[in-house]
Amino acid sequence: MSVIENSKMTVVGAGSVGASVAYAALIRGSARHVALYDIATQKVEAEVLDLAHGTQFTGSSDIIGGSDISVAAGSHVVVITAGAKQKPGQTRIELAGVNAGILRSMMPQLLEVAPDAIYVIVTNPCDVLTVLAQEATNLPPERIFSSGTVLDTSRLRWKLAQRAGVATSNVHAYIVGEHGDTEFPLWSRATIGTVPILEWESPGHPRMSAEELDRIAVDVRDAAYKVIEGKGATNYAIGLASARIVEAVLRDEHTVLPVSTVLDDFHGLDGVALSVPSIVSASGAVPIRETLFSEDEMTLLQRSGDALRTVAASLRE
Ligand code: LAC
Repeated sequence: MSVIENSKMTVVGAGSVGASVAYAALIRGSARHVALYDIATQKVEAEVLDLAHGTQFTGSSDIIGGSDISVAAGSHVVVITAGAKQKPGQTRIELAGVNAGILRSMMPQLLEVAPDAIYVIVTNPCDVLTVLAQEATNLPPERIFSSGTVLDTSRLRWKLAQRAGVATSNVHAYIVGEHGDTEFPLWSRATIGTVPILEWESPGHPRMSAEELDRIAVDVRDAAYKVIEGKGATNYAIGLASARIVEAVLRDEHTVLPVSTVLDDFHGLDGVALSVPSIVSASGAVPIRETLFSEDEMTLLQRSGDALRTVAASLRE
């Protein structure tokens, strides 16, 4: 797909996630200009150099970066990945305190150099941090949202595609709620092609039972723990998911993605950031109010919201 001329994205944080976002964006041609910012001068300059050395093999995107916040000047989208990452067995919520502080210190500086950008928060716990960042900046909720369960939804679609023997693009299923332990699939609306998920079968791919779907949901919810246990972090898939979100903004796609925005009277939910199918465009992310939930799914969404509201409240004290 062609790069949008003069489009600029900045990735804040040159750790494994931030570097992977930049790498994915260069390969996918997500933006014409990709900037990488980090306070660790030697690290960010080395990452930028290593990425730049490969640009002969990528599209027409270029890479710049450094430890001066001015590298973010004029960005159309800023992706925030800076912060502590989960250790094996650690929950995302346990990162809230330290990462909230990092985010609070960074946002005013970023707004100074990129006042009109759309902000995408990847740092965990991304839903809670989105609420705190929106409150701190007073940006309209659609302009500051998180990658939420875009990655979880990709994990779910991959697993279902493998089980059903179809292309991932034909699996229409979403993970919603927290990007974390209270997330859940919207099974009531899940289809493969036009076939409801529990009715799907094809040669060599028998119907799935509700119990099997529940096992798949648990595998998706716990996927990050498994990857972190094995290699110390997750980075490639979140890098690709973040690059995809940037493209939806820069190309004004009006595409449906389960990003996490601070909800405003969404099925009665207020003041908490949760992932629900949303329209992502140049103006940011807007939850789709017409999304239907079963009674059980509404209960799970409220439970996800309650868990995150408690965490956010503890960070305001
Ligand atoms: C994961 C991180 C990005 O789910 O929270 O891999």
